Amino acid sequence: MIIAKNIHKYYGDLEVLKGVDLHIKQGEIVAIVGPSGAGKTTLLQILGTLDKPSTKGLNSIIKSKLELNRQDVLNLNDRGLSKFRNEHIGFIFQFHQLLPEFTALENVCIPAFIANRPKKEVEIEAKKILDFLGLSHRVDHKPNELSGGEQQRVAVARALINNPKVIFADEPSGNLDTASAKNLHELFFSLRDEFNQTFVIVTHNTELANMADRKLEMLDGVIIADESLAVHENNEHLEQEFEQDLITKKKPKVNTKSIFKIIGGIAALVAGIIGVIFGSKLSLITGIPLCILGAYNLFSGFTNLKR
Ligand SMILES: Nc1ncnc2c1ncn2[C@@H]1O[C@H](COP(=O)(O)OP(=O)(O)O)[C@@H](O)[C@H]1O
Ligand SMILES: [Mg+2]
Repeated sequence: MIIAKNIHKYYGDLEVLKGVDLHIKQGEIVAIVGPSGAGKTTLLQILGTLDKPSTKGLNSIIKSKLELNRQDVLNLNDRGLSKFRNEHIGFIFQFHQLLPEFTALENVCIPAFIANRPKKEVEIEAKKILDFLGLSHRVDHKPNELSGGEQQRVAVARALINNPKVIFADEPSGNLDTASAKNLHELFFSLRDEFNQTFVIVTHNTELANMADRKLEMLDGVIIADESLAVHENNEHLEQEFEQDLITKKKPKVNTKSIFKIIGGIAALVAGIIGVIFGSKLSLITGIPLCILGAYNLFSGFTNLKR
């Protein structure tokens, strides 16, 4: 699910990540712990594609690798990255970062609207998730009309709306009272059981960290301990499900732009051939480029037909 290799991060001369390697499986709940300043947030932001690892050290070139859902995310351009993030990743931050002008329901729907999903379908799903999180009576409330725990659950619903395979959370319960924090943690586990999501959670909360399947401890920009706390029995089966999912996702869709290209290509090719065979010198001059243009469009149309 997540493969990270040789992740470094420099801020000026300061090296805050010193070569992190990590492999996280689908369906795992991984807690990242460590003292303030250890590099936890920096690592989480890089794993979540919100930031990039450094490509240059003080005296050297750094080669890193980061794969999420088998996608090499370091080589995606900004647009591809935003799309990937929107479709595959959910974020939960310490401060919920809900938009104050919008209701709980609207806040939850926003990532799905960005993904151009139909309004009706999105609203129905958002209500379902809010209901699952025990917030059905709060859908029309704005963030300042909700308690801290409720706000954070709305933020969780927002992270889930596009059904991401992985959720990154940075001290999600840092701002909550003990009871709400406990509820939130239990929620993460029931979500994993229900929807098979992977969670990477930075936390100071030892109870949450010890409930996780795996605890990674960071200090000074490196992972100093990687402790398995539970055998995640379902992993093999989850990985298989993930493979299935990939296969389903990979089912090619026909690209309409390519169809236009093919039609245009055929038209240009036919016009070009007619020009070359039957035409005068002048139509020969236009016929040959038309043939080339037609052939090029045909080729490019067919190669991009399935995506
Ligand atoms: N944008 C930045 N510019 C300069 N230094 C930064 C920046 N972000 C983080 N740092 C530094 O990187 C180190 C690691 O920070 P961070 O990843 O936030 O640690 P943690 O989340 O473990 O507390 C800290 O020393 C911090 O001051
Ligand atoms: Mg932090």
